[in-house]
Amino acid sequence: MSKDLLKIGVLVSGNGSNLQAIIDAIRRKKIRAEISIVISSKADAYALTRAGKYQIPTLYMNPKIYPDRDSYTCAITDELKKKGVGLVCLAGFMSILTPYFAQSFPWQTINIHPALLPAFGGVGMYGHHVHEAVLRSGAKYSGCTVHFVDEGCDTGPIILQQAVKVQDDETAETLAKRILKYEHKIYPLAIKYFAAGQLQVVGNRVLIKKAKKGRAE
Ligand code: GRF
Repeated sequence: MSKDLLKIGVLVSGNGSNLQAIIDAIRRKKIRAEISIVISSKADAYALTRAGKYQIPTLYMNPKIYPDRDSYTCAITDELKKKGVGLVCLAGFMSILTPYFAQSFPWQTINIHPALLPAFGGVGMYGHHVHEAVLRSGAKYSGCTVHFVDEGCDTGPIILQQAVKVQDDETAETLAKRILKYEHKIYPLAIKYFAAGQLQVVGNRVLIKKAKKGRAE
């Protein structure tokens, strides 16, 4: 492993299909980085099993044993810092961290959200709630968004988005499933751009610079 290889920490709580997409992209050398740790807020998250299959170090951190959100956020930050993580990927992580987290990893934390932000984001907008809200609204398009994490909830600068057309016979389940397929494409792509130093945050916008020769493909 080269010394300057980007170290990624992935925070999960569930199935981990996005984690899998990141692992696959790294193994196929699409992303120049390594996953140094996977931290789960749930003991039985399948994401932990996925990580274990590739000998990626894992840690279960139960939010319930911490007195408050601040101490949980600090504890997770410490673990990631110990590993020398340069990028944190939230991949279906269900605990809300305090602003201290974004301050500890300035423009070094990214998240995937299953809708086209800034619509259908914020507190309470997770899982099926997002897709149900989209269907209720009558929106013709939904999709997914990869964004930098700032001190708000789903408010940080947008890196990549993919739109998905809402079908007439759509249910929250079918929409979630169709969007997830695109999540698995744009999340690794955003990480690839980050790892190659191609992302530049300008105000609330993220510019994607051209790849430097010889670094990314
Ligand atoms: C995804 O839909 C993601 O957008 C959201 O949580 C879900 C995680 O799925 N943040 P998985 O655990 O990666 O399969």
